[in-house]
Amino acid sequence: MTKSQVLKKTREYVKGVLADEATGHDWYHIERVVRNAKLIGKKEKADLFVVELAALLHDIADWKFHADPDAGVKLTVKKLKSLKVPKSIIDQVAYIVQYISFKVGKNTHRMTTIEGKVVQDADRLDALGAIGIARAFAYGGYKKRMIYDPKKENETTIGHFYEKILWLTDLMNTKTGYNLALKREKFVKDFLKQFYKEWDGKN
Ligand code: NI
Repeated sequence: MTKSQVLKKTREYVKGVLADEATGHDWYHIERVVRNAKLIGKKEKADLFVVELAALLHDIADWKFHADPDAGVKLTVKKLKSLKVPKSIIDQVAYIVQYISFKVGKNTHRMTTIEGKVVQDADRLDALGAIGIARAFAYGGYKKRMIYDPKKENETTIGHFYEKILWLTDLMNTKTGYNLALKREKFVKDFLKQFYKEWDGKN
């Protein structure tokens, strides 16, 4: 099977699995991460085959929604084996799928391969900017969080911006990812400024 056939098959597989997701890890999240991962990967001179496969598979069994923390790796290895992908490639992709999730205090692993750095940056980028804001509120709704409450800000989606989203830029692995993140972070900060203004009736 050629690389482009493997990518096509993997794409169809992921699309099928994520068809019912609607909380921010849906198929279009994957598409955006793939696009940004390829963009960053090109500039950072990463192996674009590994990058694209890992970007496609990185949320195949998101830890927030599955009990088995290794479910994603298992599904990835199984799928790529069935497509006769060389073991060295499978190992690189499985490594990325295993370590990509960001959990405060728990997943302190730092990506050691350039492909891992690139895909993680692309994934984090999707939690920033206009898309990041939209995803944060979608996820907050899923978790039944209020959009904002001045008395208990940290239990709300706006609080989540300070807990997670505004830390992402500093976590970027690559120069290219960092520069893209800076622009998106600025947008999030401007959004927050305007949000508080409107909240306080200072139109
Ligand atoms: Ni993701």
